[in-house]
Amino acid sequence: MAFLHISLALLLTSIGVNAVLFTLENRCDKTIWSGIQASIGQPQLMEGGLELRPQQSRNVTAPKGWSGRFWGRTGCNFNVYGEGTCTTGDCGTGLHCNGASGEPPASLAEFTLDSPLDFYDVSLLDGFNLPISIFPYGGSGICPSIRCDTNLNLYCPPNLQVRGDGGEVVACKSACTAFQTPEYCCTGPYQNPNRCKPSRYTQYFKRACPTSYTYAYDDPATTYTCRETNYLIIFC
Ligand SMILES: *[C@@H]1O[C@H](CO)[C@@H](O)[C@H](O)[C@H]1NC(C)=O
Repeated sequence: MAFLHISLALLLTSIGVNAVLFTLENRCDKTIWSGIQASIGQPQLMEGGLELRPQQSRNVTAPKGWSGRFWGRTGCNFNVYGEGTCTTGDCGTGLHCNGASGEPPASLAEFTLDSPLDFYDVSLLDGFNLPISIFPYGGSGICPSIRCDTNLNLYCPPNLQVRGDGGEVVACKSACTAFQTPEYCCTGPYQNPNRCKPSRYTQYFKRACPTSYTYAYDDPATTYTCRETNYLIIFC
């Protein structure tokens, strides 16, 4: 009888916590296409990509312990087979990224769940293409929201700008992507926290998105004791 109770409790517990709900919401005034890339060994969700019309939100379920990243793609032209390319964040495989990463610059929402707590961040290490924010809900512990809801393309320094066909700034490169130097990429002699410092470029990103990662040794100074939480990811 005791055994039955224990297994019933385990069963109920596992039903409660064996999946995490990500809700992706597009508050931009144009359609975007989310890319989703699971970490090695983790299942790809929604074959790695989905369309979000303006004001549309869609649910994506991840198994417990999932890790990976979400980003937004803009200016995509996909045919009925999902073949085509995007102006920013393109993964090279059409609508479904199926494990492929997005081409920088792209703002990233990154997650490592249940290890044993949930960790998540917004990373601008690969530059910025769309505002992206993370709002955890329904979990326990300290689960700070991460807001990066300013359109940094409007303030992008000229030598970091990526322009679309119409001449408008569609993305902002990181200094590492733009200049490929050890100093900006925190590589070689700069591969330690004492030598790798914020630059005037990373400070543009930091001002717009204070709790995001803007260079390799950045410390957004956020504490998480977050667990068994669902996540709302908002674009724009
Ligand atoms: C996503 O799931 C939540 C919780 O089950 C539900 O309230 C919401 O309506 C769903 N949203 C969409 C777009 O399906």
